[in-house]
Amino acid sequence: MTSPSIRAEGLTKRFGPTLALDRLDLKIEGSKCVGFLGPNGAGKTTALKMFTDMIFPTAGEAFLNEVSVQKDRKRALAACGVLIETPEIYPSLTPTEALQMVGKLRGLSDAALADRIPGVLAEVKMGEWANKKVGKFSKGMKQRINIAAALLPDPEILLLDEPTTGLDPRGMAEVRDIIRGLKRGQRLIFMSSHLLAEVSDVCDEVALLNRGKLLFYDTISNVSTQFARGQRAIDVGFSRPIDDATLGTKLAQLTGIASWERMDPLRVRLKLSGGTDGSIERLFSEVAGLGVGAVRFQESASALEEVYMTQVERGD
Ligand SMILES: Nc1ncnc2c1ncn2[C@@H]1O[C@H](COP(=O)(O)OP(=O)(O)O)[C@@H](O)[C@H]1O
Ligand SMILES: [Mg+2]
Repeated sequence: MTSPSIRAEGLTKRFGPTLALDRLDLKIEGSKCVGFLGPNGAGKTTALKMFTDMIFPTAGEAFLNEVSVQKDRKRALAACGVLIETPEIYPSLTPTEALQMVGKLRGLSDAALADRIPGVLAEVKMGEWANKKVGKFSKGMKQRINIAAALLPDPEILLLDEPTTGLDPRGMAEVRDIIRGLKRGQRLIFMSSHLLAEVSDVCDEVALLNRGKLLFYDTISNVSTQFARGQRAIDVGFSRPIDDATLGTKLAQLTGIASWERMDPLRVRLKLSGGTDGSIERLFSEVAGLGVGAVRFQESASALEEVYMTQVERGD
């Protein structure tokens, strides 16, 4: 069996004067979870809609398992489960009934559905709710049913557009947990999100999109190390407030600190001039030894976060 893949070749979409997606070239291959990260309006939904033939590209082409979505829609989409623009489920239906409806629309037989439905409900941890009416479910539970619907054809490729948006924090955590679980199958999951923390948390790789342009596609760990060089920072938490003058004098005795800034009364961020693990270990014991009540010591905002904030959220 070849591994699942999705590929965009010069994929472009223009809405009148708006260039929503600008010549996206991207190839993702293998069973993994890839985050499609970008702020609102970056072009994520537009790209996903072209991958699923919901809209037609202005230029370029999209491929699922190397089959062109634009030229051979049916065969391309056969391998694919999709959740874009969360559909409402009729409140009077049970999850089983809702999935039967969706499955029939997708051309699955009654026998296939009877076989698949308990399995997909178990995958989204909704087995015990299979025959309760959806009307009383939380948004997070409804979204899990929508994910179950996307899983019905047992797809090798799963495209999810902002699957946690609009959910409360608990619903978000549940849905993320489900997505992490889905990675265990032989699946390629491509999931859009405007939340960096979510992508770092759930995904193995990240494709960063901003204003219709792909900035990079790489593993989370590569992105973190690549952009981390010379950029390391440590957040130090104190058990009691300490004034800037006292702290400044104390920190001046240490080497390896390029600068520092106050985050709040009990927290400062130290920017390091060196940046090797050895120097961090040394710094940890030195700061603890200053007698200023340093009780927490944590590497600050990930490098990916720095990139996201400086390159993407800055705006012009
Ligand atoms: N049907 C449409 N008509 C006109 N402009 C659109 C349409 N859909 C999206 N856009 C524009 O395209 C850009 C990208 O939108 P979208 O793909 O929805 O971004 P994202 O999903 O990353 O938030 C935005 O500027 C948006 O306003
Ligand atoms: Mg969107």
